[in-house]
Amino acid sequence: MKSLRIALTKGRLENYAITMFESIGIDCTELKDKGRKLIFKDRGNNIEFVLVKSTDVLTYVEHGAADIGIVGKDTLLEQGKTFYEVVDLKVGKCSFSVAALPEYRNYEGFNRKKIATKYPNVAGNYFRNKGEDVEIIKIEGSVELSPILGLSDAIVDIVETGETLRQNGLIIIEKICDISARMIVNRASMKIYKDQIGKLIEKVQNYVDENQ
Ligand code: PRP
Repeated sequence: MKSLRIALTKGRLENYAITMFESIGIDCTELKDKGRKLIFKDRGNNIEFVLVKSTDVLTYVEHGAADIGIVGKDTLLEQGKTFYEVVDLKVGKCSFSVAALPEYRNYEGFNRKKIATKYPNVAGNYFRNKGEDVEIIKIEGSVELSPILGLSDAIVDIVETGETLRQNGLIIIEKICDISARMIVNRASMKIYKDQIGKLIEKVQNYVDENQ
């Protein structure tokens, strides 16, 4: 049997993925005691996990260097790559939202609004669909800072608990869409290892149905 390679997103989704894979009978001992290793095998040698950044999960899966990936819908929407999205894991729930300082609501100027974001494609598509011509400013992190320092009029960012916005005096102006973690599969792997991957998808879907 081929050893399936699964790329996991480091960070918030990591522990959930470990809990899920253990619950469906995959040994995650190496993954839980990772040190500085980058590749982790299960006891039966049927699965090989790699831990990478979210955008790299897509790159590995798209190119077939990993068969399967666990990654947030936020990354999928922003990157627009080619793969099969097979299961909504219904965790890591948050939303893409437009947020700003409260005075943004009273904005009556005719200037092109400046929108800061780590997600220029998501933000650009959203405002384009609304017929609003805005300037998108790419920021790499702590996007909430940009309207406070006058770099932008508003931001497009992920909101989970809303605490970061609250603590920085920002409010949600509009919600764009809901986000959650997804399981994705390389297109060729899906055909070549149909039975093996099909069984795994079924187990993951059952786990989600029982635990949501
Ligand atoms: C994300 C997002 C917000 C925060 C929202 O940042 O960009 O800053 O989480 O969470 P909350 O609504 O629960 O406060 P992340 O921690 O991923 O780091 P980043 O600033 O590097 O994007």
